[in-house]
Amino acid sequence: MTTAKRKIVIIGASGHGKVVADLAKKNGYDDVVFLDDNPNAGANGGFRVVGTTRDVSRFAECDFIVAIGAARVRERLQTRLLDANLRVVSLIHPNAVVADDCVVGPGTAVMAGVVINPSVRIGAGCIVNTAASVDHDCVVEDFAHISVGARLAGTVSAGARSWIGIGATISNNIKICADCTIGAGAVVVKDIDEPGVYVGVPARKMVKR
Ligand SMILES: CC(C)(COP(=O)(O)OP(=O)(O)OC[C@H]1O[C@@H](n2cnc3c(N)ncnc32)[C@H](O)[C@@H]1OP(=O)(O)O)[C@@H](O)C(=O)NCCC(=O)NCCS
Repeated sequence: MTTAKRKIVIIGASGHGKVVADLAKKNGYDDVVFLDDNPNAGANGGFRVVGTTRDVSRFAECDFIVAIGAARVRERLQTRLLDANLRVVSLIHPNAVVADDCVVGPGTAVMAGVVINPSVRIGAGCIVNTAASVDHDCVVEDFAHISVGARLAGTVSAGARSWIGIGATISNNIKICADCTIGAGAVVVKDIDEPGVYVGVPARKMVKR
């Protein structure tokens, strides 16, 4: 008996795309290809670029994931895929530790070394990047990105499209509203109610000079 090949189309042939391609292989996909709108995009991490986002309907039998860092772009493309009734999947690295009752939405990538503790809800189209940790009862809303090595303590809420920078720490019970960027290494100790960029220890709104 032959088993059908599993094929996934990744939108975005970037560095992040390459990590998602490896993640797809580790999730058992035999055939991994990219679509990218950059006419100069070439093979990425050994995986072919086979077209642009205009070509999605050619791959209707495949699974899809969007691997683009910019949250609004990721959101727009994932919404287009779902509106076209295409199958958007989540990918969880076999070396991530994810509690049994954790809910992970479609289009979300959970990278190697991540720990997600019980009663966490991760929305659609999120990135939980390498070695990040998300503790009990957190809510990570749609299209948020928890960067490499960032730490969310218990009962944190990270709003839609929020970007928690590399190595940032969010203290327990903190709420971060939608469309916030938390800079690399910041420590958030108070709720953030206003979209913007926050940096430092403790984190404060960044005012550009
Ligand atoms: C916060 C951030 C978005 C700001 O980017 P930016 O708007 O391009 O800011 P700039 O580089 O122009 O820096 C502006 C000022 O803020 C300071 N600054 C920038 N990022 C900072 C940070 N994370 N913490 C403290 N200060 C920071 C700069 O030193 C600079 O200060 P100066 O005006 O005194 O020289 C960015 O620096 C950052 O931290 N990005 C996160 C990257 C990341 O996590 N990548 C991982 C992907 S997995």
